[in-house]
Amino acid sequence: MSKPIISPSILSADFSDLWKAIHQINNSSAEWIHLDIMDGNFVPNISFGMPVIKSIRKLTDKVFDAHLMIEKPERYIHNFKLIGVDVLTVHYETQIHLHRTIDLIKKIGMKAGVAINPHTPVLLLKDIIQELDLVLIMSVNPGFSGQSFIEHTYRKIQETKELIQQTGSKALIEVDGGVHDKNAKKIIEAGADILVAASYIFHHENPLKAIDNLRNVTRN
Ligand code: DX5
Ligand code: ZN
Repeated sequence: MSKPIISPSILSADFSDLWKAIHQINNSSAEWIHLDIMDGNFVPNISFGMPVIKSIRKLTDKVFDAHLMIEKPERYIHNFKLIGVDVLTVHYETQIHLHRTIDLIKKIGMKAGVAINPHTPVLLLKDIIQELDLVLIMSVNPGFSGQSFIEHTYRKIQETKELIQQTGSKALIEVDGGVHDKNAKKIIEAGADILVAASYIFHHENPLKAIDNLRNVTRN
């Protein structure tokens, strides 16, 4: 029984002690680190950017999973590659030429993902799904950690799984927002491969245990 990939988001970590958060992730069963990049335009919040990513790249070998909540992300694809990002995800809602953007991300050597907001139907991915390494389904409105999981996400995960199976796509399904130990099993059973969590992990008294709680969830 394969276990889900856990991608802790450092958005809920203590930014005055990022080393501690990275160290905890290094010692945990998480394989990825989720980096939430916000520009104050696409979402009503500003997080952190390239200098921070470049600095923490020196502290870990984990897969860097960057979630770009920025307008015109295609302007920065090369920069993200240069600072060591492995998986680069852009939002469907920011793109006019999504196919071109995905092509560029893959050509320069990263895995390419597309994120969809809670109001964006899965069906819109029909003509791009075969090009994707990852679909990120937002289970909250992007911009902040600590929000509640939106229930219709379970159906969207199932629809994405069906689309992947119908088309022979190799894309993995990542679910982001409001994930915790109580809903993880239902998310995995709906078809998710990767779980992102910020507040559940970094507000837990034992972040390593919290990561294990998510990691040890299996499909029936
Ligand atoms: C929201 C971000 C999420 C967020 C998740 O815009 O994309 O990755 O950090 O936070 P939690 O797990 O607290 O909902
Ligand atoms: Zn995210």
